Amino acid sequence: MTIPRVFVTRIIPEAGLALVRDFCDADVWQGELPPPRDVLLARVKHVDGLLSLLTDRVDAELMEVAGPQLKVISNYAVGFDNIAVAEATRRGIPVGNTPGVLTDTTADFAFALLMAAARRVAEGDRFTRAGRWQTWGPMLLLGQDITGATLGIVGFGRIGKELARRAQGFRMRILYYDPVCQDDPEASRLGAQCVDFDTLLRESDFVSLHVPLTPTTRHLINAEALGKMKRTAILINTARGPVVDHAALYAALRDGVIGAAALDVTEPEPIPPDSPLLALENVLIVPHIASASVATRGKMARMAADNLIAGLRGERLPNCVNLEAYG
Ligand code: DGY
Repeated sequence: MTIPRVFVTRIIPEAGLALVRDFCDADVWQGELPPPRDVLLARVKHVDGLLSLLTDRVDAELMEVAGPQLKVISNYAVGFDNIAVAEATRRGIPVGNTPGVLTDTTADFAFALLMAAARRVAEGDRFTRAGRWQTWGPMLLLGQDITGATLGIVGFGRIGKELARRAQGFRMRILYYDPVCQDDPEASRLGAQCVDFDTLLRESDFVSLHVPLTPTTRHLINAEALGKMKRTAILINTARGPVVDHAALYAALRDGVIGAAALDVTEPEPIPPDSPLLALENVLIVPHIASASVATRGKMARMAADNLIAGLRGERLPNCVNLEAYG
């Protein structure tokens, strides 16, 4: 068998990269930033496999340029909205992703954002560093209580459920909204109640987003949705930036329609330095790091490598998002 050629669009942890190098003739992009579009298109020409990141747009043009020998696309992420999956399916190319291994790490981080926004941790740090801490103050940086508050989880999949498990420890009332919520046996074990979207928005002190980005979820949190939330509510987004309409979010935070927001993801990414959101004190923004623990990123690398190698061998990917590609 000839050695398969692959393009890996960024350096990923060695746990996965070593497997790829052992099995393939691997061209690994060494830049800290994603390969520019023209470079990406040039480097995928004639490859048998592609290991991509969520920062790479893998569309029909790319698949066409790569050529008909392209056997597999392995995305180093659980989300795959950067990939034209229907096009890959049409071409019989299986697409792999990395579900499961980042669930706990991401749920931990969503809860960390929830707590940080509720208790104004980032603001407090900025306040201290600016030399503004002069005394203990009865009214200084008052936040919201978490224990006993109502948490609304939008999207009750793996990560949403793990967030609920964490919220149980804080004796939170847990509401969730999900299209398949009525039949979910795990919900009662987690003490979570399925409600319609409006009820969740109206009654939650915290609203945390855990849906994939699809045409239906794009701008799910818009001016209308924000208007239904409590004036003290805190929005947490560790899903995908475009699930939230940022112009509407800015207006809502500025005008006190909601209390605060904590964003791991933005639209676009990175958030432009002149985004008006960055001028607000009641928003906390971090650079898409919810899954960024040493152990989890290593597991994701291994999983992405396993998917890539299985595809190159002509075997079924251990984690495939488009089984229809197999016909
Ligand atoms: C994913 O895997 O989709 C995450 O967004 C990465 O943090």
